[in-house]
Amino acid sequence: MPDTPTVASLPMVNVQIDGVWHQFPKGTRLIEACELAGSYVPRYCYHKKLSSPGNCRMCLIEMGMPRMGPDRKPALGDDGKPEINWMPRPQICCATDVSEGLGVRTNSPLVEECRRGVMEFLLINHPLDCPICDQAGECRLQEFSVEYGRQDSRFLENKVKKPKNVELGPRVTLDDERCILCSRCIRFSKEIAQDDVLGFIDRGSYTTLTAHPGRQLENNYSLNTVDICPVGALTSSDFRFKMRVWFLKETKSFCTSCATGCNTIIGARENVIYRQTPRENDAVNSCWMCDYGRLNFDYLQSERRLLTPTVRIQDKLEPVSWKQAIETVAAQLKRYVGRQIAILASGRMTNEELWLTMRLAKLLGTSLIDIVPHTGAGDDILLSEDRNPNTNGARLLRVASDSGTVLQEIKDAVSFGHIKALISLGENPGRCGISPDVLSELPVFIIMDLLSNENTGFASCVLPSLGFAEKRGSMINGKGRLQRLNRALRGPGQARDDWEILRDLNQALSGGNGIYTIEDVFREMSEAVPEFAGLTLSRISDLGVQVLDLDKSPGPPGEPAREKVRAREQEKHLQ
Ligand code: SF4
Ligand code: SF4
Ligand code: FES
Repeated sequence: MPDTPTVASLPMVNVQIDGVWHQFPKGTRLIEACELAGSYVPRYCYHKKLSSPGNCRMCLIEMGMPRMGPDRKPALGDDGKPEINWMPRPQICCATDVSEGLGVRTNSPLVEECRRGVMEFLLINHPLDCPICDQAGECRLQEFSVEYGRQDSRFLENKVKKPKNVELGPRVTLDDERCILCSRCIRFSKEIAQDDVLGFIDRGSYTTLTAHPGRQLENNYSLNTVDICPVGALTSSDFRFKMRVWFLKETKSFCTSCATGCNTIIGARENVIYRQTPRENDAVNSCWMCDYGRLNFDYLQSERRLLTPTVRIQDKLEPVSWKQAIETVAAQLKRYVGRQIAILASGRMTNEELWLTMRLAKLLGTSLIDIVPHTGAGDDILLSEDRNPNTNGARLLRVASDSGTVLQEIKDAVSFGHIKALISLGENPGRCGISPDVLSELPVFIIMDLLSNENTGFASCVLPSLGFAEKRGSMINGKGRLQRLNRALRGPGQARDDWEILRDLNQALSGGNGIYTIEDVFREMSEAVPEFAGLTLSRISDLGVQVLDLDKSPGPPGEPAREKVRAREQEKHLQ
């Protein structure tokens, strides 16, 4: 990990904000210092993870420097603090860093007048779109209009019409009339997504955002531009016009489509997910997430969802109650012992599920247990090659073998007919090379999964389980951070929480009980696994806890502000 100067290691400077003196670490941007001091300065183009071009002018403030006395030292006022020499013209505060003795006024009559002027200017060509705009409810233009907008318009000319409904790329649609030319999307594409694809053309009132000729905004991070667009100019083609944002119930969770585990907010209504947006976590994903993970939730509404537990009765899978299903599975498994039984577990399972799976393996006396790897192309931004979100949890809990050696053993043993009972947990054995002919011949083939697949029909028993947004639990991401899934939706039909199914199965096999909640499962783990010592599910904060010292997935993308501070500090040490 690079050495990042901590706040404590940076020299502090004194800054007067709205008449009160504060101390901030050197290198803090003035707009952030004002916010920390409780004086929020409105902004459009400024974003803390991007460079600051200072082009919207919404963050104008009054600024001054200490007045120097004849001895070239700051003249002190009656309060013993430096007197401020105020500059006659307002300044932007998003592109300025704090410095010793700086004075700032964020709420003076001049500042308020400037904000009203900027708002009037920005709204000159803006359409009255709020009733049909997807951004309504989370639009900075709406919010600041309430505080600084005029009630009436002084604009007599015709508004400039700009392109509407432009497909900037496969997932992003632009309504250019709403664009306030802040350039956040352009800077994000260039600085974070490393795809310099957007730019402005034409001049003055006719300036238009567009993709470079022959190009599209189609990189795997394109939907982050929709998140950071402060108005409703950039919209998600998937989410557009589907749901008003104030109807969405928001749940903090994380993406389970790769090992990075980007922190998210799931927006759902009436048990349907409408969107996922990134949640800031500098230890994982900064403020971003990839489009692949963001849009990977439709399968929860799939027609292939398994809804009822079923048991094979006379060559047909028949629906049964959960009690009957668990009893049948336990009875089927009791017919075999040890290495006649194999468990195909999944790196998509939570730690709690993996813990109970390991207990199941011990009860059955089998060491043939492993997870199925899933990989894909990664990048050096966020997307990990490991598409299992909890490979590290499976390794820590000894479900995953080193380099998949046990998985190969299982495949061979099933193919040679040595395995009599195969338990498949959230995986399709066909996808890891076991042929349908072999699966159809297995005396016992238990499936616990949320979707049916081409091999489900060969099962002797099917146990429908839940998806990532329908359950609670924890996982360890590629960098060793323990994170918590929260439930955003109810599961469909009779599908049950995976940990409950495994708990019931263990109890049916062993006769024991004592686990009533998922917290009980975590408590057992924390008592046995040193990495979880002292933790409970609720003590894993919304931002997760580092439990393993690993650095196997890419870190969050560039944070220019901090890099600037670091570079400046290094320069200073060299002088
Ligand atoms: S589309 Fe949005 S983010 Fe891009 S320049 Fe316009 S207002 Fe800014
Ligand atoms: S990088 Fe990985 S965890 Fe993050 S959003 Fe994409 S698939 Fe999900
Ligand atoms: S936020 Fe400072 S100029 Fe735009």
